[in-house]
Amino acid sequence: MKLKNILLAAILSASVASANDVMKNSMGIMQAGIEMVQYGFINNNADMIRDGLAKVKEGNDMFSDDKVIAKYLPKDKKHMVNVASNASKRISLDANIIELNLDDRAYTKAAEGYSDMLNACSRCHGIIRSW
Ligand code: HEC
Repeated sequence: MKLKNILLAAILSASVASANDVMKNSMGIMQAGIEMVQYGFINNNADMIRDGLAKVKEGNDMFSDDKVIAKYLPKDKKHMVNVASNASKRISLDANIIELNLDDRAYTKAAEGYSDMLNACSRCHGIIRSW
């Protein structure tokens, strides 16, 4: 009986830790990606922008499920899961918009997509952190 409880506690804390790892992995990858995107725009390096976007998308995909997002919302913000999850959808849309504009060599429009992407990060962080 005691052993069972210890095992159960171990399993529970392991799953809590891995849920945290998903967030940390996802955010770490998105941060690395968006820094590459920024570097690419500032240095006029389209390949760097594209590589960065691939990373942002990879990280965003890991943290786009409503159930995962809801876990991180403060108790009084649970009703805002749709807004938070729209921020994640906006990030993947922006990634596509930036890529399409790069294809057209429409760099100013592409850069606007990058600003919108940053705003989407802040939109979700603002809810989570009660800014
Ligand atoms: C759908 C919600 C959501 C979106 C969108 C989002 N984040 Fe996060 N982010 C979180 C949560 C939840 C945390 C952890 C709580 C906190 O730090 O306040 C977090 C934390 C972070 C952290 C700190 C990670 C750590 O180890 O503590 C970084 C860096 C980060 N996000 C980067 C980004 C970037 C870059 C973007 C946009 C490309 C982004 N996030 C978009 C929800 C989101």
